[in-house]
Amino acid sequence: MTDQSPVDPDATIEERDFESALRPRALAEFEGQPRVREQLALVLDAARHRGTAPDHVLLSGPPGLGKTTLAMIIANELQVNLRITSGPAIQHAGDLAAILSGLDEHEVLFIDEIHRLSKPAEEMLYLAMEDFRVDVVVGKGPGATAIPIDLPQFTLVGATTRAGLLPGPLRDRFGFTAQLDFYAEADLAGIVTSSAGKLGVDLATNAAHEIASRSRGTPRIANRLLRRVRDFGQVKGHPRLSRGVARAALELYEVDERGLDRLDRSVLDSLIRKFGGGPVGLSTLALSVGEEIDTIAEVAEPFLIREGLMMRTPRGRVATAAGYAHLGLTAPAGTETSLFDAGESQRTDRSRLF
Ligand SMILES: Nc1ncnc2c1ncn2[C@@H]1O[C@H](COP(=O)(O)OP(=O)(O)OP(=O)(O)O)[C@@H](O)[C@H]1O
Ligand SMILES: [Mg+2]
Repeated sequence: MTDQSPVDPDATIEERDFESALRPRALAEFEGQPRVREQLALVLDAARHRGTAPDHVLLSGPPGLGKTTLAMIIANELQVNLRITSGPAIQHAGDLAAILSGLDEHEVLFIDEIHRLSKPAEEMLYLAMEDFRVDVVVGKGPGATAIPIDLPQFTLVGATTRAGLLPGPLRDRFGFTAQLDFYAEADLAGIVTSSAGKLGVDLATNAAHEIASRSRGTPRIANRLLRRVRDFGQVKGHPRLSRGVARAALELYEVDERGLDRLDRSVLDSLIRKFGGGPVGLSTLALSVGEEIDTIAEVAEPFLIREGLMMRTPRGRVATAAGYAHLGLTAPAGTETSLFDAGESQRTDRSRLF
């Protein structure tokens, strides 16, 4: 994906600084996700009352919805240190043992991408989470001995974009699981407004809604689009960011009313114009737009499917009638219009096989 894309998953350093500047620090400042917020507040309050470390917390959900932010908030609210690591960063069980034994009482350990832990590290974590203990194996072969090391009471906060990949025994050891969902437009407008305040930017209410409606239910994208609009306002000499300024900026950056960016549109366009609406395989589609398969699979496709513009069928990706309409085209007769139709065609496909 190009640098200009508002959904580029590879954040630059500037981008990361920008994100951390906008991160809410307290649970009360975390907007949206009311149920998660309320449940988490209870977990934290109960622990504070008991004077113990709260239960281990698992945060799951798509990128950019606030998992890292919540992990930081948990540590802040408990007024303890946050140690940060990630599944891929822990190569060996020994690395994890070193991190765990270095923790102080009641600290929060954040393991991002916890679904990518190695098996031995994951097994070590079971005991650590349950009994606050690790067994460190010293020596090799028949002479090897396991030395138990007691750990301080800590809270593990795990984050994953792929909860389905977590093994059951690991999932079961979390006392509290929060499943983050895409945000409502009103919540995103609130987030953009707060961000504008933090950046000292004068953003009109309807401009905040304009940005929110193009943000794919995702705070990270909302903040990113705000930055584009702010840049545009600065360069074009509009200190007050009105709705018109927001629209002009988003048009310039090729983010349309529905939140599709250039890549999403080229995927849809290719599916329809080059492949007659499909079905076509994901790798062929990726090749046709000159993109990595992963980018299409993790970013463009889930969004296009969620918007009902494209469908996944056993024979490949297919454009829906809404997909044609979004590009201003008329769908050929018989084009699928809904997920129900997709189910029907899947059944037909399978029955053809037998
Ligand atoms: N509820 C929220 N209120 C205000 N800002 C939010 C909220 N959720 C996320 N943000 C903002 O969105 C940005 C991305 O959030 P965060 O990094 O926590 O996402 P994530 O779920 O950890 O994503 P990833 O899966 O890519 O690691 C941050 O700048 C954060 O400030
Ligand atoms: Mg994160």
